[in-house]
This record gives sequence, structure tokens and C-alpha cells, in this order.
Amino acid sequence: MGPLRQRQRLIDACISALHIHGPSRTTVAKVVGFAKMSPGIVRFYFDSKAAMLVASLQHLATEFEEQVLVPVAKLKATPVAALRLMVDLFLDPDIASPRKVSVWYAFWGEASSRQEYYDICGQKDESFAILVHELIAALIDESRLTQLDADGIALGLIGALEILWQDIAFQAERDIDRPAAKRRCMAFLNSVFPGRFDLDVAAGSTIGGAPTVPNAPASAPGALPAWTYDDAGIFAMERESLFHGAWAVVGHESQIPHAGDFLTVDVGVERVLVTRDASGRVHALRNSCPESPHALQVERTGRFEQTISCKRHGLQFSLAGVHTAGAGRADLQALDLRSVGGLLFVRAPPAHGVATAHASAEPDAWFDTPPPAGLMMLGAPLEICVAADWKILIEQWLEASPVSSAVESSPFASSRVGFDSLVWDERVVREGWSAARYRRLVACLPEVSWRRRFIAPNQLIETRPDGLSVLQVLPVAAGRSCVRRLDYSVMPPDDSARATLYLARRLGPYVRNSTLALAESLQQGLVEFGYEAAGERVAPALAWFHRLVAGRVPALLIERSSRAR
Ligand code: FES
Repeated sequence: MGPLRQRQRLIDACISALHIHGPSRTTVAKVVGFAKMSPGIVRFYFDSKAAMLVASLQHLATEFEEQVLVPVAKLKATPVAALRLMVDLFLDPDIASPRKVSVWYAFWGEASSRQEYYDICGQKDESFAILVHELIAALIDESRLTQLDADGIALGLIGALEILWQDIAFQAERDIDRPAAKRRCMAFLNSVFPGRFDLDVAAGSTIGGAPTVPNAPASAPGALPAWTYDDAGIFAMERESLFHGAWAVVGHESQIPHAGDFLTVDVGVERVLVTRDASGRVHALRNSCPESPHALQVERTGRFEQTISCKRHGLQFSLAGVHTAGAGRADLQALDLRSVGGLLFVRAPPAHGVATAHASAEPDAWFDTPPPAGLMMLGAPLEICVAADWKILIEQWLEASPVSSAVESSPFASSRVGFDSLVWDERVVREGWSAARYRRLVACLPEVSWRRRFIAPNQLIETRPDGLSVLQVLPVAAGRSCVRRLDYSVMPPDDSARATLYLARRLGPYVRNSTLALAESLQQGLVEFGYEAAGERVAPALAWFHRLVAGRVPALLIERSSRAR
């Protein structure tokens, strides 16, 4: 192990020792104990214990500057996006772990007697306060709210963040609700700058033809920085700000025709159980026992006799999720449900009193014509795990779409842009055996154009003469995802329906092996080799997608050196 890494290992161990013992009771022996290194090694890197403590504090200060102040300062031109990013980063587990925050306070506690501590802690706080003040002042200017006092508001925000840090210092990571902490800061800012920090904007509003995504940067990045395709922090922010509260297709009513029928689906941020009760009403429930969060049903489909029962302790719930055991027991969590022409959309309800993580149109707004009647599921859902970040697959889809800024001019495609959806027509004009064979097989069906709807953040619905398919890319982890395909047909479930579906799949690029292999190669190139995408030409649909995700997760705009492994 090189000297730099040994020195860093001692610093990390020192921070761990400071977290447990505080500056005065931290000894060299305790530090090398944490570092699993021999005591003598310290003097090669630090003249004294005091020097090692100062170096550890300096490390925290440098990290705070590089990972909070620098990236936020880069967004000064868009104060709302900068303030959102600042809150995200200030409360990020990498910066604000209980270990690191408690050490900051420990050093502040001794700063009155140690000038170096006072200088370093003071410098960090002062730089932060100056940046917050600058952003608030810029936002007051931009919003022309001249009656507001930048100093007072900045102090308010810093105070709120400091209180949240104090909470974090005395908690275990598993007990910290970071999304709620971020929402509280957004609620503070939103109460001073109404409408600038919540996302309830009118559907379809645009700036120069491109969709308005609140707080989105004016210029869409050509490609997102490579590190954002393989980062646990970004992955957590995306789940919170893009997937929580988003409508997801979970199936079709034709899959649960009878009372008691159910289906289960994992949509990445939620495990869903959909049931049909005796009155024929369909319910969407969280597939988790309220007593302990295991999945109540692991089968994809089936039929309940009368109730849903938990196999662990036998608790019973009605098909609407109401427990049958009398007072004091919790019901199953009900989820929001919409049926559009039988297609079932589900989303987790926003936490009590909290606006949804993001505004999303109602599912029926995505359909100018409802899905065809008589759809039946054809075959089991197709699920393929891909060693690539979900964004890479979506970018591939959108890059291949004919959506162009000059939307109506293209003879082959027409498209429409909403604030969270893109719709385009795709005529099967291609030559070739598959297209010709497909047209012959559907010749008996009503003429319907191939229409594709991309619904942010991760779904594509394709309607065709033979039926409808739903494609989803589920984020599994940073740099890993799962592509799911649900196929429904209006044709009787026989060989020709299956042949038609086979051809329809061939005519779409989405789940081809070559497409998925390309995605994995892209992931490797970006993350493992640190290659950056140099191309400047960005497909309009891709620019639209980058604006949308960067508007909700501003941290996606931070340039960092991609980690060469
Ligand atoms: S875990 Fe479900 S009833 Fe106990």
C-alpha cells in the first residue's frame, strides 16, 4: 500500500476514533487500532498526535469544499438548482454521516482552546455562509422579491441545516430519514420563495419548444458526467426524486378477471400487490406485512380464497387490505391506482402532508386514444438484468426515437412533448421480411399506427395493430438495472398472435441482445475506463431527458473525474 493511502488510512482511522472518543481522549494507540497498523507508523506521517488530529480536520474541510462548495458554486447561475443541490449534498451520507458530523462538532467544541481547529472550522463555515448568502441574494434578485432580507433567510437556511446535522450526529445511519430532512429544507425555502422549490407545475408548459422542468438548467448537458452512472449517492437521490411518486404500469385488468385474483409486481421502489375483490373492485396494496416488512405474496399471479393471509403469524387481510383481527392492528398500505383502458398504473402515495417527490401527469393524460379494448397478456413478463445504469438504457431508447425539434416536419414521424412524456408515431415503413410478414399477420386487424409513448423516468408504452407492450427499466443498483417487458395482444392467444408478437419484438430495438450488450459496453467504457462521451450532437429527446432528470437531481450536473479503477 502506497504512502498516500497509508496516510489516508490513518486519517480515516483517526476520524473513527474521534467519533467514539472525542479529541481529548483519542490516542495514537486507539487510531492505529482502528487502522490495524503498527503504532510506530504514525511518526512517518505526522510529527505528533496533535498534527494527526489537525490533518484529519483538514481532510474533512477539504472534502466538504470539493464535494459541496465547488459543485454548488458551479450552478450559481441557477440559484434554485444550486440550493437544491446544496441541500442534497449537505445532507448526503458521504458528507453528513453520524461519524463525520460528530467529529466536526467535537473539533468545534475544542476550537476555543485550539487556534488551528478554530481556523479550519471557521473557514469552512464562513465559505459555506458566503455561498448560501450569494445564492439567496441571487434568488431574491431573480424573483424580484426585494422586500426579502438575504442575510436573514440565509441564516434561517443554515440554521435549519445545522439542526439537521445535530440530529444526525446522535443517530445511527439506519434511523436517519434523509429524504424527510431534505424535504423540510425544501419546505423552508418554498415558504420564502413560493412555488420555486415544489414541483407542482402545469403540464405541458414549455420554454422555446423544450419542456419546462422546474429548476432545470437552461442548457441540457450533452451526456451526463460518467461518474453519475455508477454512484450509490446518485442512485439514492434518483430513487427519491424520480421514482418515488411516479406512476408505474403494473399490469392489465384482464390478468385478474375474477374475484380473489391477484398479481404482484416489483416496480423498483415499491412491491405491489393488486387484487380484485368480491364486488369486482381492483385494489393496489403494498406487498408487505405491516407487522414485519416481508413480501406477503411471492407468486406473480394467483387467487385468494377470501382473504390475504400472512404466512408468518397468520394475520388476515381483506382483499382491500383491511386486517380482520380487530383493533390495534395495521391495514396493508393502499397505493394510488388508475386504470386507463384496463392498463393499471400504480404509485406510492406521498407521505402524509408531503407533496409528491415530483409532479407527474395523471396516466390518462398520456393517452389521446385509450389503449385498444380486449387486450390479453401474451406470455409471461420478460425480465433481463443488465450490467448498465438505468439511464444508459433510457438514453439508448430516446436516441433511437424520431422525436426532433422540428416535430411536424418529418414525414416519417410526428411527435409531441409533454413535461414528463414524449409521444411519437413510428410507421413500419421498413422493408425486410419481418415488417412484411408482420403486416400480413395484422392485415385483418383495424389499421392502427405504431405509437410509442415514453413516460419519464423509465417507461415506454408501444401501441400497435396487434396490441400493446410496456417496457420498463428498473434501477436495481448504481450501474445495474433490469429491463422488463409486458406484452398484451388483441388477437386470440394462438400461434399467429405469438408469431406477430415475435415479429413486433424484432421490429423494435429495445430488448435486442445487441442493444443490451451495447448498454453494458457503454457502462464499462464510462465507468471502468473513464472514457467520456465526446459527441456534441445530442438528440432532442435525449436533451429533453437530461433536462428533466437534472432538474430533479441537480447533483447529476456535477463534473467529477470519473474513477479509473
Ligand atoms: S409478519 Fe405478518 S403477521 Fe406477523
